[in-house]
Formats: sequence, structure tokens, C-alpha cells
Amino acid sequence: MRIRIENGRVLDPASGRDEIGTVWIQDGRIQAVVPAGQPKEPLGEQPEGRDMPAEIQEIDAAGCWVLPGLVDLHVHFRDPGFIYKETLATGARAAARGGFTAVCPMANTNPVVDTPERVAELLKRAETESVVRILPIGAVTKGLAGEELTDMAGMKAAGAVAFSEDGKTVMNAALYRKGLEQAAALDMVVMDHCEDANLLKESVMREGTPAEARRVSGVSHASEDVITARDILLARETGARLHLCHVSTGASARMAAQAKAEGVRLTAEVCPHHFTLTYEDIPQGDTNFKMAPPLREKEDVEALRQGLKTGALDVISTDHAPHSEEEKARPYPEAPNGIVGSETAVALAVTELVETGVLTPLELADRMSFRPAQILGLPYGTLREGSPADVTIVDPAAEYVIDKNQFASKGRNTPFHGRQVRGKVLYTIVDGKIVYAAEEEEHD
Ligand code: DOR
Ligand code: ZN
Ligand code: ZN
Repeated sequence: MRIRIENGRVLDPASGRDEIGTVWIQDGRIQAVVPAGQPKEPLGEQPEGRDMPAEIQEIDAAGCWVLPGLVDLHVHFRDPGFIYKETLATGARAAARGGFTAVCPMANTNPVVDTPERVAELLKRAETESVVRILPIGAVTKGLAGEELTDMAGMKAAGAVAFSEDGKTVMNAALYRKGLEQAAALDMVVMDHCEDANLLKESVMREGTPAEARRVSGVSHASEDVITARDILLARETGARLHLCHVSTGASARMAAQAKAEGVRLTAEVCPHHFTLTYEDIPQGDTNFKMAPPLREKEDVEALRQGLKTGALDVISTDHAPHSEEEKARPYPEAPNGIVGSETAVALAVTELVETGVLTPLELADRMSFRPAQILGLPYGTLREGSPADVTIVDPAAEYVIDKNQFASKGRNTPFHGRQVRGKVLYTIVDGKIVYAAEEEEHD
């Protein structure tokens, strides 16, 4: 099977390519990218030993961006253990509908992904249950209990692409330091959820603040920033590759920029909700605006956008965190943290970052595809000839209203329902196969 994607704006950060052209896919690989105006057929288009020309599927991408498949470094698929919130299959379909061709599920399932066997099991299931590539993250401590390190070498051998305690911080700095040393010896990235558990416990509504008025718990900036600082220092001392998850404060963004400038092996991500909303956008008691870390202030949003622009903050990932309607219907203080993000990320990035001039389309492709793949050291995120044929086609001009009832995810917990946006995923192609096509959905 061959696919020919014609007339699109081909954006490939790996080579700096930004031009109208035709992308040819054959046998799961990018066969060729041919700039407009050149002969359409790539040279040597038939592999040896094949006498019948392969059937060609044509996609007209006029007016669209043709991007290397998007890579989401941070999702929660709740499988096993909490499949009423999301399964591997529904999470993967949501990712595909959102334009993602590869995703990294965090380890906070039940059981926790904390052994080589569980990593292997997840990968085995993904072969039949997932339409996108599953890149498992292993836990840093057994059972995410913060007491005993996991078998990182074993999990790496089984296929884990990184380690993370996401959902919480390993509060014992000495233990975390040992974990970072272990990961450094394996040349593996540790993805860091920065939230001081003790400061969090202390966080009460600050009297008289708008946060109180909106019944938002006063999770302070410091509860994130002290751990960002601690872990940058630990990464500096251990030489570990540290990736800051969901940076939400200006101070953490500045610390990240400085640490990088000083040679710490640091990378960082920003989630769409944190570059789009502030705490002032939270309607009274609406738990669909509750996540960890929480929505911050206008200066923070500005700093995150600037960080993404300069590259001090490397990638956009979603922290897709589905919860059931029943759980989110609890009173604000008791409702779980997290919002779904897979199916709104592209539209928010286009609307909030590209349309506003913060990022060029090529930079967007870098932050959502090439950079995340580079952080993991994987051969995705590029349209170079011979690369795995993971491609995302986006119509940047398509204007619509986000409708949570159309989500492929089981989760409906989004603060963006009813929001007018631009930027629609039309096709998602994984390994040379179309796993999502918007037009088919419209015909349903
Ligand atoms: O909002 C969040 N939800 N933040 C986290 O760190 C965990 C996640 C979840 O698992 O629901
Ligand atoms: Zn987290
Ligand atoms: Zn998370």
C-alpha cells in the first residue's frame, strides 16, 4: 500500500523544510518528499521483487500542514485498574483523533508499571489494542510509594522509554538522587512531577484572594518551584537527564532556562491548559478546571509562552488525565486533579500560539513532534526519507467549537467544551496506515 499526500505545506523541523510538496509513503516508511514543481513520481518507486504496482491512496492536503506524527510525552490511560476512566484502546483512539502517533503512558495505573514484566505486558497488549505507538514510562519507586527504587535496567530492557513518578514527587531527596544516578547510568530520562507534598498539605485557601472566591485550593507557586529547584540541583550533581513535566510557573520556567544555559541536561514541557488559561478563568467551583499543577496567573502564562518561543521550554505535551463524570461531580476540594487533553491540544496550540504569532508552524512541529522524539532518542518526529511513516495532517484554518461529546476518550473532563478554536486534525497516519480520518467520522 502506498499513500501520496499532495499539495500540503510540508513541515519537517529535522531538516528545516517548510514548503509545498508531495509526501510519498510506502511499506510503512517515508519514501520521498518531492517539492512542488518537480516530477511527481519519486525515483525507484517500486521496491525490488515486486512486479505489480502497489495501490495508491491519494490525499489532497491543499491548504493543510503535513507534519511528522505528533509525539505526546505525557498521558494517563488508566489501564489496568481504572478502565472506567479510560482504556488503552480508547486512550489510543483519542490520541489518534488528536493527531498523536506516539504517546507515553505514565505509570500510575493499578498495578503500577514498576517491573519489567508490566512494561512488557503493556507493550504486548498495545500490539492489538492500540492504534498509536505506546512508549511506556516506568515508575521510579515501587508502587509509587517513594520508598524503594525500581529495577530501571530491567524496565529499560523490556522497552520503557523513560522513568517517572508522575502524579507525585519522590519527597525523599536522597532516594531520588539515587534514582537519578541509576537513570543516568542507563542514559535514560527521568520525567519530573514537581509538587512538594508537605507544602501541598499546608495549602489552604488564602483568605481574601480571588482563589478563595472561586474555591480553588491555594496551591502555591512555591510548592512547584521548590521541587523544580531541588531536582535541577540533583540533576546537576548526578549528570542525570531530567525532564520537567507540566511547567506552570514563571519561576520554574526561568530556572529551567538558566539551568540549561549552565549545561544541566534538562528539558521541559508545557501543557496547553497552562499556556491558555489562568485561575481567573475558573468558573465558580468547576472541577473541569482542576488539575495538578493548577492554573496560574497571567505572568506565568506569558512566561510559558516565551519559554516555548525561545526553546527554553522544549515541548508541548498534554497530561491527558481522564476521570469519570461522577468523580468530577464531587465538591471542588474532593474532586480528582486532571483534565483530558489529547483531542484539544492541536487546536489550542494553533489558536493560542500560532495565530498569536508566538510560534511559527515549523516551530509548532518542532515542539509537538521532533523535540519530544529527540528527548526520547527515538526515530520519530521527522519526515526524512526512510523514517517510519508517522504523519499528521492539520487544517490550520478550520474553525469550530470544541465538543466534548465527540471525544473518542472516555473522559469528558475538559475546561474547553464550547470554546471556539482553529486547527483541525484531518488525518493521523501511523506506520503507513491511516488510523484516523476526520471525513470518516463526519459520515458516521
Ligand atoms: O492533574 C493531574 N492528573 N496531574 C497529575 O499529576 C496526575 C494526573 C492524574 O493521574 O490524574
Ligand atoms: Zn504530573
Ligand atoms: Zn500527569
